[in-house]
Amino acid sequence: MHTEVLGIDPVHPDPATIERAAALLRAGEVVVFPTETVYGLGAAALQTGAVKRIFSAKERPFNDPLIVHIAGEDALEQLASSISGQAKLLARAFWPGPLTLILPRSPLVPKLVTAGLETVAVRMPRHPVALALIRAAASPIAAPSANRFMHVSPTTAQHALADLDGRVPLILDGGPSEVGVESTVLDLCSGVPTILRPGGVSLEALRAVLPGVQPPRPGKAVATTVLQSPGQLLTHYAPAVPLLLFDGPEEMMRAAMLAEVRRRLERGEHAGVLVADEDMAAFRDSGALVRTLGDAAAPEQVAAALFAALRALEEEGVQVILSRSFDEHGLGLAIRDRLLKAAGGKVFVPGLQE
Ligand code: TXA
Ligand code: MG
Repeated sequence: MHTEVLGIDPVHPDPATIERAAALLRAGEVVVFPTETVYGLGAAALQTGAVKRIFSAKERPFNDPLIVHIAGEDALEQLASSISGQAKLLARAFWPGPLTLILPRSPLVPKLVTAGLETVAVRMPRHPVALALIRAAASPIAAPSANRFMHVSPTTAQHALADLDGRVPLILDGGPSEVGVESTVLDLCSGVPTILRPGGVSLEALRAVLPGVQPPRPGKAVATTVLQSPGQLLTHYAPAVPLLLFDGPEEMMRAAMLAEVRRRLERGEHAGVLVADEDMAAFRDSGALVRTLGDAAAPEQVAAALFAALRALEEEGVQVILSRSFDEHGLGLAIRDRLLKAAGGKVFVPGLQE
């Protein structure tokens, strides 16, 4: 299959281009489209055959449920069997935007979309192309991130093309995604509202609307003083090369990263480092390939740059990626989550040695 990439204005999408993509979706095909978080691989959510194509293009296992994207709150009634006051409150506050709500599933939603669960994930994206596409398709759109399963989510059309070339008929190129990490997934079906995946809407912002929202349950993060090669806990967001995550007081964290760069160089290995602007000077003559994610105190900058930087280092052919940590305020929680997952759940804390 030939994959066509069509440029589209992200603010004022050309209706004829939208219609071409929408016609494919109505006909049961898949289309890659931009959202404010990452690029999505969409199919008409109520057509089982179309949804199946998402799984085969991504090589995604059927036990991983999809998010259904809508363009208006009225579509919610079609997808969810009941809509709580909490859900309405959150939808009003954050939609359109990077928040996904887990709600009780209506029987209209194919089991394939929800991986057999009795709940459904719904979000209203705020990207004009995504909204125009959903409206023109006249159907909610099921869409995971437009990457191959286990790879880093795409924040540009080129990333999506690199993963899905020959597997999808059309990619709409609306330029780089604004947020850069995926939506926050919030479970509203098991008592206390709980974040399942931190993302583009922060815990602080959610709590300002619904004070009881719980943070994600701590994963299997293991603080370690011994550097081992990661691997056993790799889930999503896995870069193609091992990533080592460093934490601790800034000076010690930088010193530990520099020492590891030198160790690798002595073994003939080329390291890439992910740092912040304020670290650049320290790494200038380190011999590592250095990428800055922006100002460490500005998590929106770091989030927007993170996935592209991981892919860029992969493509440069480094043998290992060393990354600094970022603190957890605002989007920092999602950044830390993605870095931890890329690191197989391990974080190297030099300060622990004492
Ligand atoms: O920002 C985003 O959310 C992007 C854009 C394209 O909208 N989409 C995205 O989809 O990241 P995906 O499939 O890569 O991640 C969806 C997440 C998965 O972690 C999945 O397990 C979870 O949402 N999910 C979907 N349905 C669920 C459900 N019924 N219950 C619990 N988790 C669910
Ligand atoms: Mg994904």
